[in-house]
Order: sequence, then C-alpha cells, then structure tokens
Amino acid sequence: MLIHTIDEVREHVKKWKKEGLSVGLVPTMGALHDGHKSLIVNSVEKCDKTVVSVFVNPIQFCPGEDLDKYPRTLEEDNNLCENAGVDIVFAPSPKEMYGEGHILSNDFLTYVIPPYFYVDKLCGKSRVGHFDGVCTVVNKLFNIVQPDFAFFGQKDAQQLIIIKKMVNDLNIPVEIVACPIVREKSGLALSSRNKYLSCTEKEEAVVLSKILFNIKACYNTGIVDIEALKDTAYSLLNENHDLEYLEFRDENDLSEKEKADENTRVFIALKIGNVRLIDNISLKH
Ligand code: PAJ
Repeated sequence: MLIHTIDEVREHVKKWKKEGLSVGLVPTMGALHDGHKSLIVNSVEKCDKTVVSVFVNPIQFCPGEDLDKYPRTLEEDNNLCENAGVDIVFAPSPKEMYGEGHILSNDFLTYVIPPYFYVDKLCGKSRVGHFDGVCTVVNKLFNIVQPDFAFFGQKDAQQLIIIKKMVNDLNIPVEIVACPIVREKSGLALSSRNKYLSCTEKEEAVVLSKILFNIKACYNTGIVDIEALKDTAYSLLNENHDLEYLEFRDENDLSEKEKADENTRVFIALKIGNVRLIDNISLKH
C-alpha cells in the first residue's frame, strides 16, 4: 500500500500495535535495487509488518550535490516492495516531512546532530552536515513509524555506526539490524548512484572492491602494518581513479587504528569521472 501522509501511517501502525504485531522499518531514498531488497527481505522475515520509506531527503544533500538528479523511480519501487511482501511504502513529499515552504536551514528546523568525533572523518569530512540531515530524518521516521526493528546496510557503515550511537544516546526504543553488503558478481557494491556510471566507468568502479578484497587477503596472511596494507592498493589505482580516502578504523567507534586487527573496518571513497563511490570491508575472519 502506497501512502504519502504521516497521519495515515500513524493510523495503520496504531492498529498493528493494538493487535500486538511487531513493526520493521527500512528507510531508503528509493531507486531500489537488490541491496535495498535484502534489507526488505530481512524485515519481512523478522517482523509481522514492514514499512519501507522512500524519501530523497533534501537536508542530507550538501550544496552542489546530486539532489535534483538523484534517481526517482517510485512506481518500480512500489512494485518491488509489493512483491516482497511489504505492508506500507511511505513516500512523503518534502512538504509533508518539513512543512510549508519546507525551510531547511537549521535556523528554522530542529536538527539531531551526531557527535563531532563521528562526523569529522571519512564521508563526513567532504559532506559537511550530511549526517545531521541523516540523523534528523531517521529520527523523524522513527517517531512516525515507531518501529520495533529498523534495518540498515553495512554499505554505509559510517551511517550505520552513527545511527546506532544516536539510538543509544537518545534512548530510542528500536533495535537496529545491520545487513551485509550486496555486491554484483564483479564485486562492485550495489548503489543507486551506480546508475550514473557509463559502461566503461562501471568496469573501472570494480577497483574499490578489488582494493578491499586485496587488503583483506593480505591481512589474512598476517600483515597488520597499515602502510604495508595500503601499499597493496596503490598499484591498483590509475589516472581514472580519484582517491578521496582509504582508512582503517575501529568497527564500533570509528577511531583510527594503529595496526589492523579483527575489529578493523577498511573504508574507501573514490571518484570515477563525476561519480563518487564508497565501499568498506570488515577484517573479521
Ligand atoms: P539509501 O542510499 O537509499 O540506502 C538505504 C539503505 O540501503 C541504507 O541502509 C543502505 O546502507 C542500504 N544499502 C544500499 N546499498 C546497499 C548494498 N549494496 N548492500 C546492502 N545494503 C545497502 O542510506 C540512505 O538511503 C539514507 O541515508 C537514509 C538512511 C534512507 C536516510 O535518508
């Protein structure tokens, strides 16, 4: 069932709760692919009722980013959800979420701001304010849907860690379920932004996962020196790859690692043409 208003979602959820049913939420920005689908399947399996939100959240895009051209495919998204057994697809307008005139500056809107330590690194460094926008909208979605479980992908591992922190710090009564990264056969992590890649760029994009798999293979042979592990990546890069970061960080709090270990996650961001792609891998066996 496709629903556009907050009131209607609340009505359904109220009824479900009265019947003692558990509710799962899968927050998305749409243009759904098999990565999103894996979260949805998880929720449908685990919960009595599943709500998928489809909302291209304007406040998490920085000036100059792809807000206007972000793919919007609501009809296909709704079909995918229906076939997967989703109960409600919640697709609000920006006005429904942020009000008349939807004034988005933090002079006019109450924001949820994650701690600086979690956002001054990795994607937060180049996307200033991005995680404020993510936490604010996810918090709003939690308040609207009041889910028992919410499903997030490890594809956006920094986002997942920040959301877990927010839920913990603000005592939000929801259990966060982390879902593994879904990849193409080539290794490329599925992403709505892969739609921006030309055929040759898509081939180039395999380098992200190649670097990560290579690093993990080297770590598995016993190499823990981070510079040595990073060196294995540089030979795979060429002039078509604009590396933004390659970092080894703690799985739970994003602090920088001195040596690679079981609690390390390796994060990479690079640009191919104009398309910025991210990926990551855990070094856990
Ligand atoms: P979006 O990019 O649409 O992603 C929605 C969810 O799908 C996120 O939890 C993301 O990690 C997960 N996901 C995307 N690609 C995946 C893949 N290849 N494998 C596994 N999971 C994958 O992330 C957002 O939207 C927004 O920031 C949002 C949380 C909805 C807030 O607006």
